[in-house]
Amino acid sequence: MEKFYLTTPIYYASGSPHIGHAFAVIYGDVIARRSRTLGRDVFFSAGLDEYGTKIEEKAKKENKEPRVFVDEVAKNYIEAWEKLGIGYSRFVRTTSPEHKDGVLDFVKRLKEAGDIYEGEYSGLYCVGCENFVLERNLVNGLCPDHLVPPRLIKEKNHFFNLKKYLPEIKKRVEKGEIIITPESRKNETLGIIQAGVPDFSITREGLKWGIPYPFDANQTIYVWADALINYATALGYPAEENFKKYWPVDLHIIGADINKFHSIYWLAMLMSAGLELPKEIFIHGLFTVNGQKMSKTLGNIIDPLDLVKRFGSDAARYLLLSQFPASEHGDVKAEEFDRKYNSDLANGVGNLLERSFTMMIDYRGGKIVKGKVDPKIKEAAEKTEKLFGSHFEAHKLYEALADVFTFIKTLDVYINEEKPWVLSRGEGGQQEKLDDILGSLLFGIEKIIFWLKPFMPNKAKETEVFSNKLLKGELKKGDKLGLFKRI
Ligand code: MSP
Repeated sequence: MEKFYLTTPIYYASGSPHIGHAFAVIYGDVIARRSRTLGRDVFFSAGLDEYGTKIEEKAKKENKEPRVFVDEVAKNYIEAWEKLGIGYSRFVRTTSPEHKDGVLDFVKRLKEAGDIYEGEYSGLYCVGCENFVLERNLVNGLCPDHLVPPRLIKEKNHFFNLKKYLPEIKKRVEKGEIIITPESRKNETLGIIQAGVPDFSITREGLKWGIPYPFDANQTIYVWADALINYATALGYPAEENFKKYWPVDLHIIGADINKFHSIYWLAMLMSAGLELPKEIFIHGLFTVNGQKMSKTLGNIIDPLDLVKRFGSDAARYLLLSQFPASEHGDVKAEEFDRKYNSDLANGVGNLLERSFTMMIDYRGGKIVKGKVDPKIKEAAEKTEKLFGSHFEAHKLYEALADVFTFIKTLDVYINEEKPWVLSRGEGGQQEKLDDILGSLLFGIEKIIFWLKPFMPNKAKETEVFSNKLLKGELKKGDKLGLFKRI
């Protein structure tokens, strides 16, 4: 069985998840589910990034010990992912002893490779980014992503010799040995390398909330180095069977703001540690809400659990993935959710299933002749299958969903044109024709359920249960599937 190791970013344990965080785990979950259906042996990782200055300060603000604080945050995340139906194989917490052991082993490898040296760093540090920022990238003296002034920091650090690996990274990315999608992000990576990336410090001085650096008692491991290694420790690196079985990473899913860390820092660290590099990094765009960056201060954060409460888990997943193509940045308009829910789910797929099943019960008591499918429907299904499959393989889930909804419209038009209700009153040939139409609808519906299943696993299951009962003749007139109630 072909293995497939898929990862999602580990989120800072600094608060509750918002839809920007939920996006990558839903994305990953959909890909994982479909890959399993296609017979792959999937490992899907998720987790939390729990060390660093940002978290330490956040805990202090709330008058809590960092350990207590991150435990609370972790509980919220785990619960949120459960409510969104995220079936990860492992949830990494970077404050766990297993993760720490893996990080220490990994860092030892970098040291043994001769890639760590001592130096002094003086520069501007943005706590929001957990990274040094360059003066030239500031906007009015503020970090453009976090809108806060960076701090001037001067400290002794242990540096990682990134420069040594840049030419090799450039070569492999250019040649497509490591696939970075979309192309615009690949160009961004190459642009950053071209502009020159300084070595980065792999340790921080005086930060208590971190993994102690084994070769210098005053230092802890830099939170990004620690965090990236989660992709190995999720598999139990260095010891566990799973590491042997699933490494290397087949697909990293990340957001656009953390490209550099993955496509440059992480690749270099892996080369230094002598571990195989990931095959592909897929980079999604960032959300704004009604044109603005999501932030507590602006009060425009959308909580994925509010969407679950209003629309249910499957619909929440659908609504987030069908907003805009993932490869681009996009603006979420909160009022669009209701409209889209009604048009695509309640009046779209929900209505198609309901009216088709009702006819199957009313006209045939569930006795549907399978196998004879109208060539028009067969052809449309084959076309959809192809498009959907290739969009899916390219991780274009928005586009893949759109393919299914085009097919749903085709079936709607088919029903309206064929008018089964007229045929149902006829005799002989007309009744035979009705059999063919209902058979074609069942064929189409089974396809739709198969395609939508990774996106909306519960609704797909409900539909399967209902249609199995229907086909066994166990349903009576008036029985309804009631998949998506209009709101
Ligand atoms: N902890 C680091 C990641 C370490 S991965 C080894 C981090 N955490 S984060 O919580 O700030 O962001 C994690 C992910 O959430 C990133 O992929 C980021 O792109 C995504 N998002 C955070 N806000 C977002 C939006 N507004 N829109 C879409 N995704 C965004 O960085």
